[in-house]
Amino acid sequence: MSVAERIDALRAELDEHNHRYYVLAQPTISDRDFDALLQELTKLEEAHPEFRSPNSPTQRVGGRPLVGFRTVKHAVPMISLANSYDLAEIRAFDKRVRGLLKNQSFQYLVEPKIDGVAMSLRYEQGQLVLALTRGDGREGDDVTANIRTIGSIPLTLRTPHPPEVLEVRGEVYMTRKGFVKLNQQRETAGLPVFANPRNAAAGSLKLLDTREVAKRPLDAIWYGVGEMRGIDFATHRELLNGLDELGFRTPPLTRDCPDLPTMEAALEENLNARNHYPFEMDGAVVKVNERTLYGELGNTAKSPRWAIAYKYEPEQVETRLLDITIQVGRTGVLTPVAELEPVRVSGSTVSRATLHNWDEMQRKDVRIGDTVLIEKAGEIIPAVVKVRIEKRPSDALIFPEPDACPVCGGPVSKREGEVAWRCENLQCPAQNTRRLQHLASRKGLDIGQLGSVVADALVEKKLIAHPLDLFALALDDVAPLELGTPERPNTFGRKNAQKLLEGIQQAKELDLQRWIFAIGISNVGESASIDLAKHHEDLQSFLDSDLIRSLHRDIQEVDTAIQQMKEELNPRTRLTPTTPQAEVTSILEEYEELRSKVEEILTRWSDRGFVTLTTKALKKTDRGLPIPSYNFSSNITTSVLEACRAFYDSDQGATWLRKALEFNLNPTRSAGDSSPSGKLSGKKVVFTGSLEGVTREEAKQTLRDLGATISSSISKNTDFLIVGENPGSKLEKANELGVAIVPYHDLIDPKAEPQSETTQVLREQLDLFDS
Ligand code: IVH
Repeated sequence: MSVAERIDALRAELDEHNHRYYVLAQPTISDRDFDALLQELTKLEEAHPEFRSPNSPTQRVGGRPLVGFRTVKHAVPMISLANSYDLAEIRAFDKRVRGLLKNQSFQYLVEPKIDGVAMSLRYEQGQLVLALTRGDGREGDDVTANIRTIGSIPLTLRTPHPPEVLEVRGEVYMTRKGFVKLNQQRETAGLPVFANPRNAAAGSLKLLDTREVAKRPLDAIWYGVGEMRGIDFATHRELLNGLDELGFRTPPLTRDCPDLPTMEAALEENLNARNHYPFEMDGAVVKVNERTLYGELGNTAKSPRWAIAYKYEPEQVETRLLDITIQVGRTGVLTPVAELEPVRVSGSTVSRATLHNWDEMQRKDVRIGDTVLIEKAGEIIPAVVKVRIEKRPSDALIFPEPDACPVCGGPVSKREGEVAWRCENLQCPAQNTRRLQHLASRKGLDIGQLGSVVADALVEKKLIAHPLDLFALALDDVAPLELGTPERPNTFGRKNAQKLLEGIQQAKELDLQRWIFAIGISNVGESASIDLAKHHEDLQSFLDSDLIRSLHRDIQEVDTAIQQMKEELNPRTRLTPTTPQAEVTSILEEYEELRSKVEEILTRWSDRGFVTLTTKALKKTDRGLPIPSYNFSSNITTSVLEACRAFYDSDQGATWLRKALEFNLNPTRSAGDSSPSGKLSGKKVVFTGSLEGVTREEAKQTLRDLGATISSSISKNTDFLIVGENPGSKLEKANELGVAIVPYHDLIDPKAEPQSETTQVLREQLDLFDS
């Protein structure tokens, strides 16, 4: 036997034993014999590096650390499931499916919903070549090296005739036991613990050290497919059996359900089994079994119409409320937090829960010493749902409204129309830490080394009084930072400090949109930041923007004028049959004057793409006088304008500008934002209806990347209306206004057959596809 043959034989044998051990849980050799085979293979591969392969069983123990994760586009987007919480919704789903499928016969299949991390594995010619996280559904992180360490995942499909391409989809999870053990180890080591098994699994998959990943108790279950070439399955049952044969672990407890009653029984059975498996289940999934009918059923923007998740009600548990503390957020909002007697709920131990605000606290009549009901639903922070008044001790204490900030002692106030109390002191250290964390967050300047502990330490050591002070940090300031406790010291160190400073330097190169988001102005989220960046050259011009100030002023004026036209100057209320003619004339004149002023202002802003002008005629009884109105064409709306304005006028805002100048920070708009080169540059598009295979957000981003501006309402300035299924009234409007109507895929997918001549012509005119 040649070396190559021996290597092949060993690999096949080891793969087989791995499968028996991890997937079937029926090992047929001892660990010792297994190790001996693995040893032999390792030696042969070391001696003959030309035969090394990433899918060799020797690679499961992990290897060289990774530098990072590249993002890769999914061949088929990873969409999600619609959720339902009661049988009524399930029955409605059944009715909908039956309606769509008319008289065709079909069955359902019920399987558990596994609470893990969604993953897509790509096999080409039977070899694992790529493992991607879901990411945003359109593209995910390449975690292949980490996935290879999971024993139950086949590195090579168990078939002599592998298909050309097979993408397998499922969940990677951490076992409950493994999770508890890992947290115990972390606690002893002084490391932060994971909140639940899902976070632990997600955290493990993001480790750069594959050897470390190999030690984590990860496993996986597979229930779906993405791209397939040279293989197909007619039903979901066949798919599960097929995956099983190819070497994958598939869900336990799957039931074929010919009708609604059997399906309901299967859901009940699933719920009862919830704690019997080593992984967390957060519900069941009902799928139409016949895959051949999926095309007919189609997808909504976010999820397929052939499946629905039946989620368990979040578990609620009782515990005692020992104390109430106050947390101060980035924008100064004070949040009362319940300090609880630790309890386990939905798979994790909870000792704190949010009480939201004082109004809520009063409404629920929460007092210190009460017995309360708490719940944790998915990602959401645990919340106090209810007080068990009957268990209230006589000495339970009402928690008073705050009279000062608990962190800095500064004044607190409540803004008109808001329920939240805020700390007024913009230099409050609590706000500084949160602002700093927000600045460094992934959607902001993405400075990985700057987590909450480091942020706290920087503020506490008075190295940072304003987020931009980051740019004045020196290695010697940061390296000695103490992050631990006196009992468990943990110094930041030169290496980490160096990385932090590198991250800070890199942030200077990020584009304007990220910087605007990073400032953390209230109401200015990601979408508003994108739109604000389009209208500003660079950071410094945004930090005191005449454009925003004047738009804000004009919008206020317009709003007041429109209000006046509707009320005081409304001919209906002002004019009676006995009003003297002279007064009629003067009122009408005044009205006309206001109207033309408003229209003049709005036209100016509409030409610049901020608003769209609509003119509604008042009803007949109002003498048919037209009254102007408008919509915002982008995410720069009144609340964004007000927040920017308040920011410019605050000390915080002034300091941003001063420091940006001082540190010479002036990131500019990236090419992508204004996209002079984008094929859709300058085009205004509006969406209606649900799109197949992509979410609305993803679709918007794709078009933005091509340079288009997305508006929410249609006008004669709109270039195209992108239509999906079940379009709304915008479709009629587009027809009325003669706006081009384009199916999304016609515009972005070179493989899509254009559905009309208009879109064919558009494609050519815009020269969208090179070939
Ligand atoms: S099917 C196109 N089946 O739950 C539909 N998903 O909340 C693909 N999940 O995105 C999903 N167990 O990550 C399906 N048996 C199961 C599942 C399951 C868990 C996850 C999956 C999905 C999410 C939706």
